[in-house]
Amino acid sequence: MLELQALLEHIGVLPLVLLILTVSALIYALRQLVFHPLADYPGPKLAALSPLPFVFSNIRGHSHDDLLNLHRKYGTHVRIGPSIVSIATYKAQERVHGGNPHFPKGQHYKNWQLGVAKPGLTPATDVHDHAVQRAALNPMFFPQNLKKQERHIQEGLDLLMEKLYQHKNDPDGVDINFWALAFSSDVITDLAFGETFGSLKAEKLHWVVEQMNKFFSMILVLDSFYRILPSWLWSYRESLVPKKVTAQRQRLAEFAQTRLVERMNNTALREDFITALRDVPEEKRLNDAQLRMNCIGFIIAGGETTSTALTAAFYFLVTIPRAYTALTTELRSAFTSPHEITATNVSALPYLQHCINETLRLFPPLATLGIRESPGADVDGVWVPHGVEVVTPQWVINRDEGNFRRAEEFWPERWGNLKEGDGAHGGEDRKRACQPFGMGQRMCIGKALAMMEMRLVIARTLFEFDIELARKVDLVRESRVLMVWNKAPVYLKLTPRYTGPQA
Ligand code: HEM
Repeated sequence: MLELQALLEHIGVLPLVLLILTVSALIYALRQLVFHPLADYPGPKLAALSPLPFVFSNIRGHSHDDLLNLHRKYGTHVRIGPSIVSIATYKAQERVHGGNPHFPKGQHYKNWQLGVAKPGLTPATDVHDHAVQRAALNPMFFPQNLKKQERHIQEGLDLLMEKLYQHKNDPDGVDINFWALAFSSDVITDLAFGETFGSLKAEKLHWVVEQMNKFFSMILVLDSFYRILPSWLWSYRESLVPKKVTAQRQRLAEFAQTRLVERMNNTALREDFITALRDVPEEKRLNDAQLRMNCIGFIIAGGETTSTALTAAFYFLVTIPRAYTALTTELRSAFTSPHEITATNVSALPYLQHCINETLRLFPPLATLGIRESPGADVDGVWVPHGVEVVTPQWVINRDEGNFRRAEEFWPERWGNLKEGDGAHGGEDRKRACQPFGMGQRMCIGKALAMMEMRLVIARTLFEFDIELARKVDLVRESRVLMVWNKAPVYLKLTPRYTGPQA
């Protein structure tokens, strides 16, 4: 004690504090850069020392391009935070999302669960809970059950066409993302609740849809706090959620509850998405709260993603005349009237499918597949220690010339030959690298529905209208990623071309 007092008197308090802080910082830096299990990973030194570069990149909305630049500089395996790595190879993607042992969803998804008693499918982190929910919900998406829903999708499509026709002379053109989102969210609510949100009819997005981007931004903020704050402060994160957001979440839950209970109890209601669940054996059915959370989850997971894909598809088509001509020729020679444009008929059009595949490759609605936690495993030749977070960014993998020739180009023809290859060697493209719907146990449950919607909307729009860009925009460069895309607006000039009877 006396020695400490003497030392304080000799050096002074402030310099001593500074000395202690400097030594602690040096020890921390040494541990992170030299002795940490990820010390051998390439990457910026600052990212190894602090979560701030990763957090800022996410909040600025540039995470997709920042990752692209990091991989171009450092290679396939990059340390992007003290305990998070990005691995941009198709093998890593297959290993992390589809391999064994399983890479579970972890702490990142717990941010989605705040204030929710029973998480639905997307944020579920418990592997058993997820498997039970997934088995119960899968029948909704069986092809025979989706087929039964086509007439509801067609009703939405008729209304969409009517609205596009009414707005064709708008001086700025038609904001295609607005209409695609109104359509996709009306469709998913019609299927889930037996009643649309009415966004198309009202020409205004339902408040739930309008709140969606705010919901994703909130998760981003919570995720940032979890990365920056010490763990003992995490339990206070809930108090960061604004009261207004909590109230709206409650309002949505009540809306969903009322609609679902009404429908589950009323056997006279139309045969639909939810009635498909009656085929599930009693003991495997989900309770009301789980069903409610999942129907809300479908709106969040399905509305924004599908509208992003549609907006991007129209954008690429109007900016690449060769693709536009090839697709309109295919569509307009396949159909003579809108009523022929059915889910079965559009699924037989190869060039339409190539255009959709190419859109999802160049502008994946989820730019990186969700974050997972390593169980301690080798990932494409490099060990990822237990508990380390892993991302496998589609944005980067899909732009790798080792997977796709002319990777930055919208070139639908690449999907014409189904042979697998290795783009880098001038042969066929490595098509399996493109996985816009994810892989393995957590793969998108709504893929078939999304494909059906995209084929119908693109086919019908290009059958009824000639389209061109109304305002100059670079969707790829001017959009940002805040969990989901914050897209630059794409305004289209529509000229009606079909003059015969409607569907
Ligand atoms: C073009 C449209 C779509 C794309 C690109 C897409 C993409 C994805 C991806 C990549 C995942 C996996 C995320 C991860 O691995 O963390 C996913 C999961 C999911 N998607 Fe989609 N999605 C689309 C449309 C839809 C639709 C229409 C629905 C409506 C039902 C939907 C519902 C879901 C759900 C519930 C999950 C979570 C599945 C689970 O964890 O078991 N998606 N989606």
